[in-house]
Amino acid sequence: MDRMVINGGERLIGEVAVSGAKNAALPLMAAAILADGPCVIRGVPHLRDINTFKRLLAQLGGVCEGEDDLRIDATNITNTEAPYELVKTMRASTLVLGPLLAKYGKARVSLPGGCAIGARPIDIHLKALEQMGAKIRLVHGYVEAEANGLRGARLIFDMPSVGATENLMMAACLAKGETVIENAAREPEIVNLADMLRAMGAEIVGDGEETIRIQGVKVLSGAEVDLIPDRIEAGTLMVAAAMTRGNVLLKNAGAAYLTAVIDKLRKTGLIVEQEDEGVRCVGPRRIRSADLTTQPYPGFPTDMQAQFMTLMSVAGGMSVINETIFENRYMHVLELQRMGADIQVQGRTAIVRGVPLLSGAQVMATDLRASACLILGGLAAEGQTVVHRIYHLDRGYEAIEKKLSALGADIQREAE
Ligand code: EPZ
Repeated sequence: MDRMVINGGERLIGEVAVSGAKNAALPLMAAAILADGPCVIRGVPHLRDINTFKRLLAQLGGVCEGEDDLRIDATNITNTEAPYELVKTMRASTLVLGPLLAKYGKARVSLPGGCAIGARPIDIHLKALEQMGAKIRLVHGYVEAEANGLRGARLIFDMPSVGATENLMMAACLAKGETVIENAAREPEIVNLADMLRAMGAEIVGDGEETIRIQGVKVLSGAEVDLIPDRIEAGTLMVAAAMTRGNVLLKNAGAAYLTAVIDKLRKTGLIVEQEDEGVRCVGPRRIRSADLTTQPYPGFPTDMQAQFMTLMSVAGGMSVINETIFENRYMHVLELQRMGADIQVQGRTAIVRGVPLLSGAQVMATDLRASACLILGGLAAEGQTVVHRIYHLDRGYEAIEKKLSALGADIQREAE
């Protein structure tokens, strides 16, 4: 297991390219299950979660080749089970449920179990699949689903779940008749998935809006698709520029997907300007405080909450942060406190009182975005910060230490 050692205080200056989006790549990889013929996903980041999904597809009988341009041929799937060993390390494995059921009429997928950031049940996915005619049993920790041909239905989600929207959109593509998803998630990753499904021959309208309509077709073919940029990696790098009084040009930043994040960061003093080559971010001399409430897209993403909290921990003034998506996404607070941050949590609200400077410390990453926030803290802190358990970071940030070093940070990966 590796750790990251950071000597804080360096300004970040230079250019950096944002990688393809992990959270778009995973559903696109699942969608390849629906195709008769190979699919190619271009611009895939090198991440642990991508490798886990490749292992899952291989276990099902799919063939994955290539890295940046990932070719998946899942035409001859032989197995319809996603085992506990893979699902427990990556909840997104549950995205194979809809495609397997739609194409093969059955699927056995481990229930994901607990998660560091909240309960994260998949009840919305299961209820909607039942409405489309699936028979679902929960046996020995597994979801066992069967359907003798799914049929279109009107699905009204209790909340705009990203995963449920993706799973059901994929399932509906091969169902009989029309499916309408109401209160659907509107994230850019949903649109990227719909673009791939359309390229495969699916009939989908309304993606990116609250109501998505899918007309089922009999077969889907292979397709090629470009991955969108990782908006959370881009946002994390923007906060890094803000915290180090940096001057960073983000290439492939996907600014159009970051409106809420950019608006909020501008309120804290970060200068963000679109240039021909990318998005320039110039950090302020003094960071101003701002309040934050996380929301489904197009609101401010929960996946940027921890990073924003680190920024607020060195702002001038007090910030009130409300986390509305996950009930337990404040595990990073105790670690930030070890670095001298002044944060109080009451339920889903955190009150952050800015301090002049964080102090380097030994800290422990608890989940992906918590890891990122500790790295950010380390970049701006006085002295040395050692972030342990960074395997979480490797799930979602491609070569982050290389990108930050190239910008001038003093950061090194070491074996524990
Ligand atoms: C996706 O998770 C992302 N993961 C998460 O990214 C992200 O935090 C989340 O969306 C919210 O934006 C991927 O795209 C692979 P949800 P997902 O279903 O689909 C509740 C990261 O750091 N809910 O939109 O699992 C759920 O408990 C991560 O990259 C139900 O109650 O999120 C949560 O409170 C972590 N029942 C809320 O909805 C359900 O059946 C939103 O979850 C489904 C969800």
